[in-house]
Amino acid sequence: MKLENKVAIITGSTRGIGNAIARLYLQNGARVVICGSTEENAIRATQKLKESFSIFEEYLLPVGVDMKDTESICKMVEKVISTWGHIDILVNNAGITSEKSILDSTDEDFYEMFDVNVLGLLKTTREVVKYMKATGGVIINTSSMVGINGGRNQVSYAASKFAVNGITKSLAKELGKYQIRVNAVAPGVVGTDMMKESVTEEMKQRLIQMTPLMKMAQPEDIAGAYLYLASDDANFTTGTIIQVDGGLVM
Ligand SMILES: NC(=O)c1ccc[n+]([C@@H]2O[C@H](COP(=O)([O-])OP(=O)(O)OC[C@H]3O[C@@H](n4cnc5c(N)ncnc54)[C@H](OP(=O)(O)O)[C@@H]3O)[C@@H](O)[C@H]2O)c1
Repeated sequence: MKLENKVAIITGSTRGIGNAIARLYLQNGARVVICGSTEENAIRATQKLKESFSIFEEYLLPVGVDMKDTESICKMVEKVISTWGHIDILVNNAGITSEKSILDSTDEDFYEMFDVNVLGLLKTTREVVKYMKATGGVIINTSSMVGINGGRNQVSYAASKFAVNGITKSLAKELGKYQIRVNAVAPGVVGTDMMKESVTEEMKQRLIQMTPLMKMAQPEDIAGAYLYLASDDANFTTGTIIQVDGGLVM
């Protein structure tokens, strides 16, 4: 059990990659804050996890937190502190995508992408670091292969994920003095709701052909990197971006 006695906040953990990370962290002894965009979504996801892991009932805290809303982020962090007293791990995973050319993108599209993927991540990190700086800890950001290679009709998403990489490296430099490690994971194509919304069947087959491991990942294939980075196995690792993409980007 690599995460015994650890408290982990995982944003965007109602489904997809975040939910797979939550499952793996629970299996490794962590207490996990399940975050969704609404309280209802967080409670529903927590209920499902309780059904799979009945012994872990007291290890789960569902919280609705809209990454676009500063007050909601502050309340989420305060709730974790008043419930469990400390935060050891923050996984900034909540995110949205967009498949629009620059000419089709409106100002609102740009603002929404940055509100959720960048500003929400920065605000959550700031609120958590207020507490984490006293104890040390781990921050893991979800980037993307698009944040390394760019993507056609994905300019605002790519911009947001390149920003995530910059934030990761800058905060690794800034927060090391508090023994806070900051790293990112850059997944390739993963079979989640997000992928289903944004990738056509034809595009999916093409991506699989371009991937050396010749398949598309499931969320469980990505979660292991987050366990490694959160655990003491990575205790001298900070400022890195680990690609988990079957070799698609190299
Ligand atoms: N899937 C891929 O191929 C892929 C590849 C590279 C990187 N990623 C990145 O991986 C992360 C997770 O993606 P996924 O594929 O697992 O996505 P997903 O299945 O669509 O899940 C998205 C998660 O983010 C939450 N979320 C969305 N908007 C939010 C908001 N405004 N406030 C709070 N929470 C919000 C959702 O909560 P609700 O359930 O409440 O809506 C959900 O838990 C994202 O950062 C994404 O960019 C994904």
